[in-house]
Amino acid sequence: MPRVVSVEALDGMPQDDPDAARSRRDLRRVHRAMGTRSIILRSLRGMRPVRFGVEPLRVLEIGAGDGSLLLGVAQALTGTWPRVALTLLDQQDLVDSTTVASYADLGWTVLAKVGNVLDWASHDVKRLQPDNAHRRWDLVVANLFLHHFEGEQLAMLLGAIERKSNRLLACEPRRDWLALAGSHLTGVIGANAITRQDAVLSVHAGFRGQELSALWPEHDGKWKIKEHSAGLFSHCFCAERLGATA
Ligand SMILES: C[S@@+](CC[C@H](N)C(=O)[O-])C[C@H]1O[C@@H](n2cnc3c(N)ncnc32)[C@H](O)[C@@H]1O
Repeated sequence: MPRVVSVEALDGMPQDDPDAARSRRDLRRVHRAMGTRSIILRSLRGMRPVRFGVEPLRVLEIGAGDGSLLLGVAQALTGTWPRVALTLLDQQDLVDSTTVASYADLGWTVLAKVGNVLDWASHDVKRLQPDNAHRRWDLVVANLFLHHFEGEQLAMLLGAIERKSNRLLACEPRRDWLALAGSHLTGVIGANAITRQDAVLSVHAGFRGQELSALWPEHDGKWKIKEHSAGLFSHCFCAERLGATA
């Protein structure tokens, strides 16, 4: 199954379009069907334990959507993780005040940033982190997001994450026949036409084997890399900088 990246309908729709809003709500059901929250939790627990320090942990989610997926993860991590300063980056303004308040209840502060991740990737570290120019992100999360990119853009994005962070956790669609069959069945969970179409495109653009590892820029022993299939439909890539204190 060759990898084919196409523009997904949702990405080109205005955020106040009722069909787009409905499709974003569908995504929550898709995550339940995919078991995304459990997969992310398992992957995080499989990484080196995070540090508890005076400073909160600096976490960035790219292509974060409405921020609701990571909220479920944050709720499940309560009591086992330190305070988190979370930045949610998306090209659309989708994070509402209720979501921010729910994070705050858990002791997580949220900065919702609207912007193109490729601009983020091409900015230097100083411009990106004016509050603390020399500190890398402790963790970057990408969920159902890296599959939007290919070629030079994907390589640039991974290169930027490698430079600017100590950990990456990516959970993407798996490009195989089972996931493809599942993507054709999203109507069963009540998904609308946009979601049904994008689900299929996502699988064709997904990953398998060691494809992301092959694109990861550092192979000189500074990073611990793990790439594997997860659940019925997902593909995970985890990278940890060795020797980082976070
Ligand atoms: C499939 S959704 C996933 C949302 C969320 N991560 C989740 O799993 O629920 C992909 C998200 O990526 C965002 N996106 C697509 N291209 C982007 C870009 N170049 N820069 C920033 N965000 C982008 C879209 O607006 C959308 O919210």
